[in-house]
Amino acid sequence: MPEPWTNLTDGVDVILTAAVTANGMIAREATETVDWSADLSLFRKQTMGQTVIMGSKTEATLATDLGGRQVVVMHRDMKPVDVLALVKTEHCFIIGGAWTYSKFAPHLTHAYLTFHPIVFPSNAIPLFSHLASKIELTFVKKIAVREENGIYQFQYMVNTVD
Ligand SMILES: NC(=O)c1ccc[n+]([C@@H]2O[C@H](COP(=O)([O-])OP(=O)(O)OC[C@H]3O[C@@H](n4cnc5c(N)ncnc54)[C@H](OP(=O)(O)O)[C@@H]3O)[C@@H](O)[C@H]2O)c1
Repeated sequence: MPEPWTNLTDGVDVILTAAVTANGMIAREATETVDWSADLSLFRKQTMGQTVIMGSKTEATLATDLGGRQVVVMHRDMKPVDVLALVKTEHCFIIGGAWTYSKFAPHLTHAYLTFHPIVFPSNAIPLFSHLASKIELTFVKKIAVREENGIYQFQYMVNTVD
């Protein structure tokens, strides 16, 4: 079977994509299947034909078919830089969860955040489980997901990770 990875091409976008509550959470617990996200069809459209990278806990919760994409499941002994060096698609989406978003934080070029009008308890899982430095974002555009409910995907460029 052919190796799906080749060397990293210059200019590959590394895009964090997440459904986020109004208080910045992505799930109530690590075993939760995210069934409250309104942007699954947009997620499918944006990631089709591209590379998607997720943690093994997220893989265990998936109810969505990720066919048509190059799928990488991260385990604790894998280094993001090594994984990214082998991406051959134009875009590489980091699709969660919080541990995986944190591991790839230094490598992000973009963040696509869809905020939902819901607040989870404070013991829920935040977007980043561990982040040593701040990330600065520049707004690029928003896409209506469910306009009548005020749900939009906000797309940002990641400027600085220090
Ligand atoms: N709202 C959203 O858009 C969204 C998106 C994606 C996921 N989620 C949710 O996020 C949750 C999962 O997020 P998560 O952050 O818990 O997991 P995760 O990032 O999906 O995966 C956890 C990874 O961490 C490793 N790991 C586990 N415990 C560790 C530890 N103590 N030290 C070092 N590595 C460790 C595991 O690797 P090993 O295989 O080596 O154990 C695994 O690859 C789920 O509820 C999922 O539904 C939400």
